[in-house]
This record gives sequence, C-alpha cells and structure tokens, in this order.
Amino acid sequence: MVDRFYEFCGGQSGAWRVAQVMAVVGEGLPLTPFVSLTPIDLSMPRVPAAWSVRGVRSNERYVQARERSALGAVQGDLGRSEAVCAAMIPIRKNAAWWALAQDERRALMEEQSHHIAIGLEYLPAIARRLYHCRDLGEPFDFVTWFEFAPPHVSLFDHMLTRLRSSPEWAYVDREVDIRLQRVGE
Ligand code: HEM
Repeated sequence: MVDRFYEFCGGQSGAWRVAQVMAVVGEGLPLTPFVSLTPIDLSMPRVPAAWSVRGVRSNERYVQARERSALGAVQGDLGRSEAVCAAMIPIRKNAAWWALAQDERRALMEEQSHHIAIGLEYLPAIARRLYHCRDLGEPFDFVTWFEFAPPHVSLFDHMLTRLRSSPEWAYVDREVDIRLQRVGE
C-alpha cells in the first residue's frame, strides 16, 4: 500500500539540503540547513523541527480524463538519479477561492489560467507531486513538490513565472519557494 500521509520538516538533518528559502507571498518559513520528508501516521507526535507541514496524497479534484491521459503519457517519476534539484512550494489560497463553487475553481485554474496546459509543456523534465494539507488544519492548503536535473532549473523558473502571473495566483495569499539539493550530490 502507498503511504498517504507525510511530514515535511525543516531542521538539522534530512535527505535534502536547503539552497534557498524565498517568501513569495505572505509570511515565509525559517531557513534551516535541511528538509526531511517522512511517511507518518497522523496519530504520531510531530517531529521537533524549526517548522513542519503535514500533507496527504489525495484524489484529484479538477483534472479531466483527457488531461489525465496526456499527463500520464509524458510525466516523469520522482527519484530519478539525475534529478538532484527539488523545489518544495507550500501554498495557501484565500477565503475567496474556497468560497467558489467547484466548477468556478476549475474554470479559473484551467480555462482561464491554463495551469495544466502550461505544466504539461514542462514534462517530463519536471517531475511533480501534490500533497493536500487544508483538511489536516495545516498553515498551508497544499505542498507542491518538484524534482529536476540542474540544466532544467531555468525551465522550472520559466514555468513559475507563467503560473504566478495567471488569474489563479491572484487567490494565493501565502507561498514559500524552498529550493533543495539532494544530499550527497
Ligand atoms: C510541472 C508542471 C505542472 C503540472 C503538469 C501541474 C499539474 C497540475 C494538475 C493536473 C493539478 C490538478 C490536480 C487535481 O485535479 O486536483 C494541479 C494542481 C495544483 N498545482 Fe500544479 N502543475 C504543475 C506545476 C505546478 C507548479 C510549479 C505549482 C506551484 C508553484 C503548482 C501548484 C499547484 C497547486 C497548488 C495545485 C492545487 C490547486 C487546487 O487544488 O486549488 N503546480 N497541478
């Protein structure tokens, strides 16, 4: 069975060395030397750390069948040996976003912002995973995680610029961009 619940911690040890922490919107997170990612059971006490965020791998909310097929045909796996760079980007959306109906959120995300279409252009260079945090009462609604090889850093940054200037991002009220390097690389 696939682990569902995870705890991301900023601390003194972990598989990922922190290169940079940027507060993009709202309050940032303290700079720590490492980030760790551990499968957890929700009943476990939190690991002592400068900061921690819990997330769950959950079902998709917005993706349509043809988009799922397109993603499945090109997406890369996490953990590829050449993908020694990662970005952990925790995100919170504002109350106006959560007050919208499901179809309004989908329209904002895709028909107006082209989030999936833009993202698809960057696969398989960028591998991704989405964790949901909102229903766990965390300070972020999502943790987004990306892995890529060093030559693809500027490609990743290009995608971020496009997504952050889209209508969907007007609803983002906290975003922290943490750049990481796999330990041992
Ligand atoms: C690598 C290219 C990317 C692809 C292919 C991609 C694709 C997707 C897809 C398909 C979903 C919808 C999942 C669902 O149906 O619930 C999604 C959601 C999301 N993505 Fe991306 N994405 C990409 C890059 C990014 C980046 C760079 C960020 C952050 C800076 C990001 C942040 C999010 C967030 C926060 C959600 C959840 C939105 C919500 O439920 O309100 N994505 N993405």
